[in-house]
Amino acid sequence: MRRMIPTLLAAAALLGIGTAAGAAPAAHEAAPASAWTSASLRQALAALPPGDAKRGEQVHRQMFCASCHGEVGVAPTLNWAHLAGQKASYTAKMLLDYQQGRRLETEGARLMRDVAQMLTPQQIADVAAYYASLPLPRDDGTPRPVSSVTHA
Ligand code: HEC
Repeated sequence: MRRMIPTLLAAAALLGIGTAAGAAPAAHEAAPASAWTSASLRQALAALPPGDAKRGEQVHRQMFCASCHGEVGVAPTLNWAHLAGQKASYTAKMLLDYQQGRRLETEGARLMRDVAQMLTPQQIADVAAYYASLPLPRDDGTPRPVSSVTHA
């Protein structure tokens, strides 16, 4: 195991990832939130207002979620997550994770942190309800017609 450390450090250097000192959050970044416990997560989700899918569709369009995650929550490339058909509690948790600094490890995650920090609890609940109202993508990654939710 010990022998792997120099290799990992070399790989990290190649990838431009900081070593222990460099990986510390920059001064301007908020301290990362503490890890969820099942109780604190349940409480955070229960504290969100009820979501409305129609309003969530507006959030999806007006906050540019559609530009990366696709018109109907099915992303045009594999670099961006499909959101259609996810359970509302899943989407809400992901957005709270980004918003509170629990997911920072990729450039995309840091981008999503900035996006999520613009959302109110109501918008999180609404957009989560909207994705939950949409059908899951087909296995080939294309969207299903939104009016016919089937499990073909
Ligand atoms: C500029 C492109 C971009 C925009 C705009 C954007 N996202 Fe994202 N989103 C991403 C990327 C990239 C990831 C994957 C980030 C990572 O590595 O964690 C992601 C991840 C997510 C995830 C987590 C998915 C999962 O299963 O882990 C959710 C939920 C999400 N976005 C919702 C939204 C919502 C809601 C909006 C609009 C308010 C939005 N995104 C706007 C690019 C974008």
